[in-house]
Amino acid sequence: MRRDRARNVAPILLLLLAGAADAKQPHLPPPNGNGGCQEYSSYSMRAQGTPSTGPLGLPYMRPPPGCRTFNSSAVEKVLTNLTSRMTDPDLARLFENTYPNTLDTTIRWAGPNLTFVVTGDIPAEWLRDSSNQMKVYLPLLAHDEPLRQLTKGVINLQARYIAQYPYCNAFQPPPESGLPPQGGSGDTGASVSPPDNLTIVWTCGYELDSVLSFLQLSRLYYEYSNDTSIFTFNNGSWFTTVEGILQLIEDQAVPTYDDEGNVVSFYNISGPNQQYMKNNGRGPPKALTGMIGTTYRPSDDVVDFPYNIPHQAMAVVELRGLASIYSQLKAVARADPELHTIMSALSAPHIDTLALKRANKVEKGIYEYGTVTTKHWGEVFAYEVDGFGGVAIQDDPNVPSLVSIPYLGFVNATNKIYRNTRKMVLSRTGNPYYGFGPAIRGVTSPHVDEKHVWPMGLVSEVVSATKDEDVLTAFAWLKNSTTGLGLIHESVNTHDGTDYTRSWFAWANSYFAEAVLQIAETKPHLLFKDGKGWNLTAVLDA
Ligand SMILES: *[C@@H]1O[C@H](CO)[C@@H](O)[C@H](O)[C@H]1NC(C)=O
Ligand SMILES: *[C@@H]1O[C@H](CO)[C@@H](O)[C@H](O)[C@H]1NC(C)=O
Ligand SMILES: *[C@@H]1O[C@H](CO)[C@@H](O)[C@H](O)[C@H]1NC(C)=O
Ligand SMILES: *[C@@H]1O[C@H](CO)[C@@H](O)[C@H](O)[C@H]1NC(C)=O
Ligand SMILES: *[C@@H]1O[C@H](CO)[C@@H](O)[C@H](O)[C@H]1NC(C)=O
Ligand SMILES: *[C@@H]1O[C@H](CO)[C@@H](O)[C@H](O)[C@H]1NC(C)=O
Ligand SMILES: *[C@@H]1O[C@H](CO)[C@@H](O)[C@H](O)[C@H]1NC(C)=O
Ligand SMILES: *[C@@H]1O[C@H](CO)[C@@H](O)[C@H](O)[C@H]1NC(C)=O
Ligand SMILES: *[C@@H]1O[C@H](CO)[C@@H](O)[C@H](O)[C@H]1NC(C)=O
Ligand SMILES: *[C@@H]1O[C@H](CO)[C@@H](O)[C@H](O)[C@H]1NC(C)=O
Repeated sequence: MRRDRARNVAPILLLLLAGAADAKQPHLPPPNGNGGCQEYSSYSMRAQGTPSTGPLGLPYMRPPPGCRTFNSSAVEKVLTNLTSRMTDPDLARLFENTYPNTLDTTIRWAGPNLTFVVTGDIPAEWLRDSSNQMKVYLPLLAHDEPLRQLTKGVINLQARYIAQYPYCNAFQPPPESGLPPQGGSGDTGASVSPPDNLTIVWTCGYELDSVLSFLQLSRLYYEYSNDTSIFTFNNGSWFTTVEGILQLIEDQAVPTYDDEGNVVSFYNISGPNQQYMKNNGRGPPKALTGMIGTTYRPSDDVVDFPYNIPHQAMAVVELRGLASIYSQLKAVARADPELHTIMSALSAPHIDTLALKRANKVEKGIYEYGTVTTKHWGEVFAYEVDGFGGVAIQDDPNVPSLVSIPYLGFVNATNKIYRNTRKMVLSRTGNPYYGFGPAIRGVTSPHVDEKHVWPMGLVSEVVSATKDEDVLTAFAWLKNSTTGLGLIHESVNTHDGTDYTRSWFAWANSYFAEAVLQIAETKPHLLFKDGKGWNLTAVLDA
């Protein structure tokens, strides 16, 4: 997600800044250095290849093979197998365009141990986006060695970024790539503490889910590959990064006022694009709850209250996941001298204990401070709280969101509080950011405005649905949300399908593809003519 808060505050200034910066930057070479390749930012704004045979006639939008930024044989295999069986040609085309989109278009540079992945139309790497962009490919790792190497490089580079700037959310290309730092950062002219450096950092908005995404990607990478090289790379810098993350988490669980009434703060940001950050850039105050504060939402908007509940849900799952990896590695290290040396030298050798302790406190905090009993919906999860009684009742479509809580793994979709919450935030009367109209309906975000629905929110409805009809309804809206361009947009006007933002938003494409794969495995009758099961492992083994 880009941080274009500036759009609302000083759009002309940002345009001038971006324009000036762009003028100074040399143009990026096209992917693969092939001069015949169009920039995908413009390519994705016009219908390209043959239309699909369904009523929507969605165009084929993959770049020509020579212009793709990475080729994966496993992805092609899954793609062909799945689409050849799908009943709905429009949905199949949308999957065909979106599933490989990150590999086709966003691998800006891949070295032997490091990979730089851009968000799409913004030439920087977001921690959250890059993790989620790659997540859809993780089940293929054991079947595609180059893809595994590529993914390993994403984690290695993220580990470096976080070790250097744990509070920052988006980054510049690494020096090894030879790519110059890109202009146009929304933080130009801002003052950030701890200080950053815009030749390395792109934006420094502290968002808890940035570091949690790194933990999630590491956990799943290991689960799907059993490869320990991400842990030993660069003399075990992954562990140093994780120690830094745990420190950040402990710091951000500290309440605003200490026993003498002094204000305690570990991060602040202020400047031309951050005027509405309260309290000299520190954000709103928080009480002691066991939970972990954040300054920005996953939309890159500033929070109303510091304890964002979807962030907390993800934290519980990923801290427990971290503890689990760490215990497994301790066992593996007995037979692996390199790993053993690295793990014995750690300054905090109890990563698993620390992580579990905090996970339990956060979970307790969620139920003690993060739920609200409402008159109409019963007990629900709040979107944000501060521990003083301040509560934001709403949802935001960017993941982690309330609707996506089962997808995050915190509670399952049959959980009573989740069901109440879902009913509330997917209703016109329960969620101030629920938009509806002839073009699209769903959760909107103040990041754009209250009348633009984010298709990503509809994907969250699919991956956390228990009822077939909920899946089909969300897919129908999604198919029709592309302005005829066959890719998932960032947001679409509820009353005008031609008014959309971001035609090239790789995270949303990967997330949609992940939903299709999930439904193929769990509810195959919704996708296939013959209704027979579909099994990813079997396809890859064939
Ligand atoms: C992907 O494969 C095509 C040929 O099908 C080739 O032209 C292109 O260079 C490959 N891309 C990469 C990044 O290797
Ligand atoms: C920022 O980092 C670059 C290296 O990427 C370095 O040359 C420069 O001195 C740094 N600037 C500051 C203010 O630290
Ligand atoms: C990883 O190792 C475990 C234990 O040896 C094994 O059960 C699992 O199948 C392996 N996973 C992969 C993807 O190789
Ligand atoms: C890549 O990492 C491996 C260790 O994981 C190391 O042996 C190798 O030298 C690295 N290659 C480069 C080019 O840094
Ligand atoms: C910002 O935080 C730093 C510590 O990280 C502190 O020294 C500085 O005074 C803070 N500034 C404001 C305005 O709170
Ligand atoms: C690797 O880390 C260990 C443990 O911290 C340290 O003793 C050793 O000097 C490091 N080696 C290098 C090459 O940095
Ligand atoms: C959902 O969670 C509840 C309690 O946590 C459990 O009893 C139930 O079996 C779970 N349902 C599914 C479908 O996993
Ligand atoms: C798609 O949306 C348009 C409005 O943007 C609407 O006119 C049309 O009926 C919708 N089509 C489907 C198949 O839902
Ligand atoms: C999927 O296929 C694999 C390999 O053919 C098999 O081991 C596994 O049991 C299958 N899973 C399901 C849920 O059928
Ligand atoms: C898809 O994969 C299944 C399971 O391996 C296989 O039986 C089937 O033939 C494949 N279909 C196509 C079109 O590749």
